[in-house]
Amino acid sequence: MDMFRTKSIEQSIEDTEAPEHRLRRRLSALDLSVFGVGVIVGTGIFVLTGRVARDTAGPAVALSFVVAAIACGLAALCYAEFAATVPVAGSAYTFAYATLGEFPAWIIGWDLMLELALGAAVVSVGWSGYFTSLMATLGLELPASIAGEDAVVNLPAVVIVLLLTGVLVAGIKISARTNLVLVVIKVAVVLLVIFAGLFFIRAANYTPFIPPPRGTPAVEGLGAPLIQVLFGVTPTAYGIAGIFSAAAVVFFAFIGFDIVATAAEETRHPQRDLPIGILGSLAVCTALYVGVSLVVVGMQPYHELSSAAPLADAFRAVGQPWLAFLISIGAIAGLTTVVLIMMLGQSRVFFAMSRDNLLPATLAAVHPRFGTPARVTIIIGVVTAVLAGFIPLSALAELVNIGTLFAFVIVSIAVVLLRRTRPDLERAFRTPLVPLVPILSVLASIYLMLNLPVETWLRFLVWLLIGVALYFVYGRVHSRVGQARTGA
Ligand code: ALA
Repeated sequence: MDMFRTKSIEQSIEDTEAPEHRLRRRLSALDLSVFGVGVIVGTGIFVLTGRVARDTAGPAVALSFVVAAIACGLAALCYAEFAATVPVAGSAYTFAYATLGEFPAWIIGWDLMLELALGAAVVSVGWSGYFTSLMATLGLELPASIAGEDAVVNLPAVVIVLLLTGVLVAGIKISARTNLVLVVIKVAVVLLVIFAGLFFIRAANYTPFIPPPRGTPAVEGLGAPLIQVLFGVTPTAYGIAGIFSAAAVVFFAFIGFDIVATAAEETRHPQRDLPIGILGSLAVCTALYVGVSLVVVGMQPYHELSSAAPLADAFRAVGQPWLAFLISIGAIAGLTTVVLIMMLGQSRVFFAMSRDNLLPATLAAVHPRFGTPARVTIIIGVVTAVLAGFIPLSALAELVNIGTLFAFVIVSIAVVLLRRTRPDLERAFRTPLVPLVPILSVLASIYLMLNLPVETWLRFLVWLLIGVALYFVYGRVHSRVGQARTGA
């Protein structure tokens, strides 16, 4: 069936050399790790920690971060093998094209829009929230009609997205430098939270570390987690079960290590550096998250944590408003890089898809001076800005999780398949214990997906159906691999 035609790894790599499609190989392992930390540390740690500790896990929220990190670590081991073997822009899309075939690859590329473009829009709305509140602290109130989710247009979100689009068009190295400066600020602030926070910890706040389980009124209807509907499980807060439910939410905090793989084609020594970038950034972020969450729940009783800005507010609560101010600046810097790299990843995925003619080929043009896929970057920037500026996105945030987890499932399966179909390939990094690690990765991702609400699943299915329709109308007919086969 032509829908399942594959594109050989050799062909994928050869295509990266065509002069009109050649990106610049400028990134090192350090750049990649900084990219990783830039996109990973964001809303998850700056916002979700407090809400989850307060409502679901108690002081044991640090363990939820560890559980989510294990699920991500399993997937990261699979991504690392693929990225080192097929160092081509497009990440999961390219991996799927080489193994499962064109149609699944298209679906994954389509699905990644949820993680990347939608993710960028969601985080830019969060950015706007922090920015507006910082301006208010400085005595500059922005009118509600032009800032915030209820605004006619969320102007700060639009402006930041368009500015970052400009940076992305200007070049990968400029993007890497901008990212580096902001990541240094962000990590400094996270370390400040950990070390300054140590002085305000009160041991009493850690007992009980795992509060006794308590039934929560079952969420009804479309808002209920799918797992509850399927198995009749009632959600509990706290206790051991609470740690696991919270893990499904704080998973958001780890999204991004996989985006490192989309920069494969711009990496100088991809075989060595991609696994370092992917696994290294995940390890660093896990350590930061566990540190921050342990400190924050030590500073305030967990049921008093704020859900909007828990890190800053914990310092306000212990009488340190200037530290709270610094933390808000760190959060703004932090969220900026998340948006930047998510859009970078999105442009590289679309670039790869249009190079294969599954999207219009003109989108794959590389700018002669900047060496970046300028056209596709600008289109993505404008679409993201419109989404962020005009659509209330908080209801859609969980689509980002489901989209990402679906890609993890596919990549983990693809690693096992490629071992079977192409045992001969040189693999600079090998996922350990295949097929055990990929199987555990699939199970862990599915488990987290099942914890998402039914309405998220429905929206996800509708999105995939739109993708299916587009494939049959456009991609299947225009596909470069298909045309080469039929000699058209
Ligand atoms: N991991 C990113 C964040 O927490 C998406 O903002």
